[in-house]
Amino acid sequence: MRTLKIGNLSISIPIIQGGMGVGISLSGLASAVANEGGVGVISSAGLGLLYRNLSKDYIEASILGLKEELRKAKEKTKGVIGVNVMVAMSNFADMVKTAVAEKADIIFSGAGLPLNLPSFLPKGSTTKLVPIVSSARAARVIAEKWKSLYDYLPDAFVVEGPKAGGHLGFKDEQINDEHYDLEHILPEVIGEIKEIEKRYHQEIPVIVAGGIYTGEDIRHFMDMGAAGVQMGTRFVTTKECDASDAFKQTYIDAKQDDIQIIKSPVGMPGRAIFSKFIQKVKEGQKQPKTCMCKCIKTCDISKSPYCIISALYNAFRGNMDNGYAFAGANAFRATCITSVKETFKALIEEFNKTK
Ligand SMILES: Cc1cc2nc3c(=O)[nH]c(=O)nc-3n(C[C@H](O)[C@H](O)[C@H](O)COP(=O)(O)O)c2cc1C
Repeated sequence: MRTLKIGNLSISIPIIQGGMGVGISLSGLASAVANEGGVGVISSAGLGLLYRNLSKDYIEASILGLKEELRKAKEKTKGVIGVNVMVAMSNFADMVKTAVAEKADIIFSGAGLPLNLPSFLPKGSTTKLVPIVSSARAARVIAEKWKSLYDYLPDAFVVEGPKAGGHLGFKDEQINDEHYDLEHILPEVIGEIKEIEKRYHQEIPVIVAGGIYTGEDIRHFMDMGAAGVQMGTRFVTTKECDASDAFKQTYIDAKQDDIQIIKSPVGMPGRAIFSKFIQKVKEGQKQPKTCMCKCIKTCDISKSPYCIISALYNAFRGNMDNGYAFAGANAFRATCITSVKETFKALIEEFNKTK
């Protein structure tokens, strides 16, 4: 595999572990991936809930929680560590500022257009900024806005297709429409970025995500011009993944039909493993809910069928009756729990076999 360069960072294995909230990718998984030469990513979603022992105030607890996770990750690895911050989160600015202040290597930001992300970068900061997009248009809008407002270009882009897990940047009807497959959108994004690179004389690597599960998949997308891949689902069934065993077991037990598109209170479609909880929501059964933290900018708890942060937190802890596991379209392919080391070994072998 080719080394991935993001600014002055040199990533020997061009595999980025996607940020997975709530609590699925923390310092445990991120440091294990970074130790194998990839990029480990801590999810900042819901940290205020995970660290509510540190402060009663959700915002303060999330700041302290992110500091703690970055500290723990740096204790375990000298590799590259990123933080995932979703634009839809109401503590977006606090999480970005904390990641920059604590010298995270990279911030990955999607679930909305991170149009003001460079405004949080003080002079001399070394943190790289990587937006996650689902179309060439979004990539162009972000690059042009950043250049004109901040004289800054994205250090890389992640283009995430409709087979990803969690919230998807597509309309319901686009998810199974082949025109929105990565095979279609990746060349469009690469074409757009090439124009920007030419215009501003700066290299911007394009990383591809969503449904990438094997070394063969990695080869396929790198042959199409991707500089690296971002993978989430494949890393859930590892020993080091920070989720509970019950969460990981839902992946191992899932059949292809169990992986479904749901309507999330965030206002975007999401991909998850069907559960009793999802069934109850579909039937219109009221779920107990109180708003603890107004975690999502656009969420109106009086109109939401349930509280998403509680549902994801419950699943992370293994209380699957009161939540559900987000998962990519390939989650049903998991058969056992392995280590991150074994996963990397398998991916590299699979990649090399398809030479
Ligand atoms: C359990 C789970 C949680 C996720 N949470 C987030 C998140 O908090 N922020 C985000 O930007 N993407 C999130 N994602 C998307 C992943 O980071 C990744 O880009 C995507 O899942 C890649 O597709 P794959 O899972 O098929 O490899 C999540 C995905 C999963 C499976």
